[in-house]
Amino acid sequence: MNLDPELYGTKIIPFVNVKGFLQEMLSQLEFSRDYEKEVVLDVGCGTGGTTFHLVLPLFPRLENLYAIDALPKMIHNAEMCNSHPLIEYSVADIEKWPTVKNWRGQITKLVSIYCLQWLKDTKKGFQNIYQLLKPGGKAAICFPMQSIFYEAMKEMENNSKWRSYFKDVGEYISDAHLNKRTSSYYEKMVKEVGFEIVYLNEELANDAFSSDKSFTKVFLYFSFNYILNVYGK
Ligand SMILES: C[S@@+](CC[C@H](N)C(=O)[O-])C[C@H]1O[C@@H](n2cnc3c(N)ncnc32)[C@H](O)[C@@H]1O
Repeated sequence: MNLDPELYGTKIIPFVNVKGFLQEMLSQLEFSRDYEKEVVLDVGCGTGGTTFHLVLPLFPRLENLYAIDALPKMIHNAEMCNSHPLIEYSVADIEKWPTVKNWRGQITKLVSIYCLQWLKDTKKGFQNIYQLLKPGGKAAICFPMQSIFYEAMKEMENNSKWRSYFKDVGEYISDAHLNKRTSSYYEKMVKEVGFEIVYLNEELANDAFSSDKSFTKVFLYFSFNYILNVYGK
């Protein structure tokens, strides 16, 4: 994985469905009302824009917000651009238990936005998430399944003009897209891990961009079609 934080930017993803999930759905489900002191983990925080602007305000009774990303340069940019006294950024990989085991059983709320599609072993990621949660803790997860963006990448890979810029592009195409996973596939997986599903929604997301420029910037990353939200323990 070789994402460039400079291209990614340091602000929040302007996707309407992410904002709707975090700000409306989680509030309807009273996601942040269980504990006197919430210990929150944001998995795959990138440059921290979503962590700072959308996750932090969800928790009025926050003790600590840990935010992890597998890439050191993402964490560096998050610390530079989206720091806050209650947010602690660290390099850690949700697929590698030794890098996250320090939080075992401590997390009251876990949030992960557009990260789990990167995992090679999604079940391992869910298992680690489960182990990190305190009994009664909850996870709110949102990630894309199929996207026309991935199809565009495959076409570029086969196009003689652009091929040299799209080497190893297969590494960036998610298992969900390649194997046409549906929400029932993940539903079964998370239940096997031990989760109780409080809310699950698969939806067609069709986000509009405010200008050609913002579209170009964001299109470097993803264009989403389906979102799966898993919530509960
Ligand atoms: C599309 S970005 C989303 C960032 C952020 N959640 C947001 O909403 O803006 C996905 C992030 O997940 C990170 N990531 C991918 N695989 C990961 C893993 N196994 N463990 C932790 N972070 C991971 C990537 O480095 C990237 O920064």
